[in-house]
Amino acid sequence: MTTLDLIGSSPKFRALLTEVARVAPVDSAVLLQGETGTGKEVIARAIHEASPRRSHCFVAFNCAAIPSALLESELFGHERGAFTGACAQTKGRFQLADGGTLFLDEIGDMPLELQPKLLRALQEREFERLGSAQTVRVNVRVVAATNHDLGQLVAKKLFRADLFYRLNVIPICLPPLRERVQDILPLTEFFVAKFAARFNKTIDSIPDEVVEVLKAHDWPGNIRELQNFIERAVLFSPGSVLRLPLDLKQTVKPRSQSAARTLADADREHILETLKEANWLIGGQDGAANRLGLPRTTLIYKMRKLGIEIRRSPRSRSIRQMADEQCHAAANC
Ligand SMILES: Nc1ncnc2c1ncn2[C@@H]1O[C@H](COP(=O)(O)OP(=O)(O)OP(=O)(O)O)[C@@H](O)[C@H]1O
Ligand SMILES: [Mg+2]
Repeated sequence: MTTLDLIGSSPKFRALLTEVARVAPVDSAVLLQGETGTGKEVIARAIHEASPRRSHCFVAFNCAAIPSALLESELFGHERGAFTGACAQTKGRFQLADGGTLFLDEIGDMPLELQPKLLRALQEREFERLGSAQTVRVNVRVVAATNHDLGQLVAKKLFRADLFYRLNVIPICLPPLRERVQDILPLTEFFVAKFAARFNKTIDSIPDEVVEVLKAHDWPGNIRELQNFIERAVLFSPGSVLRLPLDLKQTVKPRSQSAARTLADADREHILETLKEANWLIGGQDGAANRLGLPRTTLIYKMRKLGIEIRRSPRSRSIRQMADEQCHAAANC
């Protein structure tokens, strides 16, 4: 990802980018804190790319994804024979990031016993590979990230205070998406374009009611959740207009009562609009059910629930005919 993929224009996001530009030129440690999916890794990369270190490596290391027994060797490297299976000398992430940036993701999961060695590597810029007495010197800028409250982990003695202060030289808090509602439209447009290209589809319109539904959601999974949601919406959209498949739309949790009404209204409007487009035909290839990505019987059920009258399409069979067919099919099962 390049900095060009940093989408957002809300005041909070612009303030974040100003912060990135301000901290990028210096070598001080940065601690990124924010809920899951708020873009911590993206911002860590942006800091690297805006820094004088950009021509060197950006090495990302997830402290939670590696078994704790392997963490030391993964971070600092090991000598041949340092442990069973260590058949060659191996560089750790600190050495691989020499001259560049080391991104320590999920730093709150760093085991307490490894924290003193990490502290020394940060402070003295030196360490020993596992099984070696030789000191390795490196020039690495560290950016760490967590979605835990590190201060609280320190209070509970689950994280060393000295390491916390060393990492927290420049603290940056990433705002959750619900506090950057203004960014939902540009992010949606960006993800629609991205997934439409990936799925070889043309989506050239995002209806206002779709945007309203997206804005009303809380997005506990933040930008990642929105991204996944749009990926599915693009996949389900039958034409060139972005549609939120109904089953998907119902998973959207509105923030308030008024938002709940908006959601129900949007559901109703969306079905009505699709029915009109389909000339009130419910089933079949061109029918509204297919356009909405729903089984015909589910759409009929939803229409009844939302009080939408079932009109007879010039091309459709009657509801009675459909009901008879269903009874017939059930009797034959
Ligand atoms: N400003 C942005 N513009 C476009 N895409 C973004 C932006 N911020 C984040 N993303 C996308 O959202 C997803 C989540 O971002 P990222 O992995 O950086 O979040 P995170 O805070 O590290 O999440 P976690 O805490 O779960 O590790 C990624 O696919 C990323 O590309
Ligand atoms: Mg992350």
